[in-house]
Amino acid sequence: MIAILGAMQEEITPMLELIGEYEKIDYASNTFYKAKFHGKDIIIAYSKIGKVNAAITATVMIEKFKAEKLLFSGVAGSLNPNLHICDIIYATKVAQHDLDITAFGHPHGYVPGIEVFCKTDNALNQIAMSVAKEQSINLIGGVVASGDQFICAQDKKDWIKATFNADAVEMEGASVGQVCAQLNVPFFMLRAISDEASGGADMDFDEFLDKSAKISAKFVLEMVKKI
Ligand code: ADE
Repeated sequence: MIAILGAMQEEITPMLELIGEYEKIDYASNTFYKAKFHGKDIIIAYSKIGKVNAAITATVMIEKFKAEKLLFSGVAGSLNPNLHICDIIYATKVAQHDLDITAFGHPHGYVPGIEVFCKTDNALNQIAMSVAKEQSINLIGGVVASGDQFICAQDKKDWIKATFNADAVEMEGASVGQVCAQLNVPFFMLRAISDEASGGADMDFDEFLDKSAKISAKFVLEMVKKI
């Protein structure tokens, strides 16, 4: 079973439309969509925004639906001047930018028992690169920082970029990465850029959410064909 997780309805609707036929299963105050795609069993859901919601949904996908790989598809704000709206990035590693016990001398993103960065799966990242190559899509890998905040201010954007050497920011990836790491499930995450995480990002997000979410969803489904 392959899990595909988004945070928002808009991030999974394009997949459900492309797949066409699926079974709906209600569980844990959420809806899970079970389907077959190119001979593979898949389970799709959106978690609702934020790290806690995403961690719950990822856990359910693995523990109840027996997902053996988890692919996240969605949108992100860009922190990298080379990443423009509608470009895509896969996460090489993820970190929680709002996890802060620096008062005790620890680095940002660290609490005892976890590392600051959680790595994504190499084999899945290679599949992403091969899909990009075949389709002549420009795809970069980079650091993605997650936190329970929509970033729409230059100073905060600069801080996250400098502190984590991050290329993109969103609100779920690091929590899903941690769930997958602890449950031994390969984790991949693709994000299409919806905004630049500075002033006006809220307006760009509203304008580009659907378009970017669709770009990411289509790409991830192409990957599923190769898994
Ligand atoms: N997801 C998409 N854009 C974002 C931003 N600017 N901040 C946090 N999450 C996002």
